[in-house]
Amino acid sequence: MMKGLLAFFALFVAVLGKETFDGHQVLRIIPRDEIQLSVIKALEDIIEFELDFWRGVTDVAVPVDVRVPFHSLQSIKIYLETQDIEYSIMIEDLQVMLDEEREEMEAAARVPQPRGTDSFDFSRYHTIDEIYSFQDMLVAENPNLVSKIVIGHSYEGRSLNVLKFSTGGTSRPAIWIDTGIHSREWVTQASGTWFAKKIVTDYGRDPALTNILDKMDIFLEIVTNPDGYHFTHNNNRMWRKTRKPNPGSRCDGVDPNRNWDAGFGGPGASGNPCSETYRGPKAHSESEVKSIVDFVKSHGNFKAFISIHSYSQMLLYPYGYTRTPVRDRDELHALAKKAITDLASLYGTRYKYGSIINTIYQASGGTIDWTYNQGIKYSYTFELRDTGRYGFVLPANQIIPTAEETWLALMAIMNHTVRNPY
Ligand SMILES: *[C@@H]1O[C@H](CO)[C@@H](O)[C@H](O)[C@H]1NC(C)=O
Ligand SMILES: [Zn+2]
Repeated sequence: MMKGLLAFFALFVAVLGKETFDGHQVLRIIPRDEIQLSVIKALEDIIEFELDFWRGVTDVAVPVDVRVPFHSLQSIKIYLETQDIEYSIMIEDLQVMLDEEREEMEAAARVPQPRGTDSFDFSRYHTIDEIYSFQDMLVAENPNLVSKIVIGHSYEGRSLNVLKFSTGGTSRPAIWIDTGIHSREWVTQASGTWFAKKIVTDYGRDPALTNILDKMDIFLEIVTNPDGYHFTHNNNRMWRKTRKPNPGSRCDGVDPNRNWDAGFGGPGASGNPCSETYRGPKAHSESEVKSIVDFVKSHGNFKAFISIHSYSQMLLYPYGYTRTPVRDRDELHALAKKAITDLASLYGTRYKYGSIINTIYQASGGTIDWTYNQGIKYSYTFELRDTGRYGFVLPANQIIPTAEETWLALMAIMNHTVRNPY
């Protein structure tokens, strides 16, 4: 019966093309003590509720944001009330917000496609095809500064494009930036696109960036999870993982930020393919991850590695899988402080900072734990805007301000990296 129903549902989605979120709410739950914490944590394992934790369970008094499907809403609310757990409604009806987002995108898409990157509209969200054509235009316009490297292919066969910004030399020390490894975090791919244009605009004009590019190369992967990104546009806006099927399970995809060979399989990742934090069958099982691993290893000279997520407004350094502080903890902490201070100087956006395990939660198999263990000292991860008002559905009018302020933090990290060779 259940199987039949699921098959029917899958068909339904396939025919209509798109999953909808009518009546889904995002609740913010605040655990008051350890008991409430474990009660909320237990909800993660009740598959039937189909809860989607936007901000996971961490600690007493730290908000948990969870998308609750309409069919579970009443049960969850009653349950929380009987347990005397405090919650508020962050998003009343997710589909209403998604409809607005879609209308804006469609209105913007009616204008002619840009013929060059100068007329690219950075203040709206773009499809993967639009971003890929942006990348090609940027390369064509700046052949002496930008090139495109295909480091591999996604599960569904899309190319994994990395933009290389280089003023010459061979195998110079390098800085890596990636956005969009979690596909639904749309402000990250949008910011990555803006960063690419910013680099070509500022080179030769901004002394700090010019100094960086005269000594180091910058590699930027904007659409790090292309199958997932395509899926967020065409099937399910809330898709986070990769799109590879899991044999023996009705659930697809692996969390590409739990799939790295750093504490792989430890606490803070799931072994259940239906979980949003499913680690995968083995470390580097996902080609989207393995391609970066191979590229970073064969390059051999990365000095900074910055992996960009949303949301929560945090700047984090390793580790996520262990409480053992990293050797460079003091330097990374001080640099994070400088970076978020610079970030806040533009619009007053406030960030938290610290190690992953102390600032968000224990997470094993994460990107920057692996890069740090490879010897890349300046390994950081960002959680961009906001703090939960819109969550993953950040209005497009916040893209440019988000990218601008984040750029100041990136500059602080890159400037420090170039001045502190190791
Ligand atoms: C780069 O670093 C130098 C030396 O620490 C500092 O004087 C300068 O203000 C920094 N520039 C930026 C953009 O962070
Ligand atoms: Zn993420």
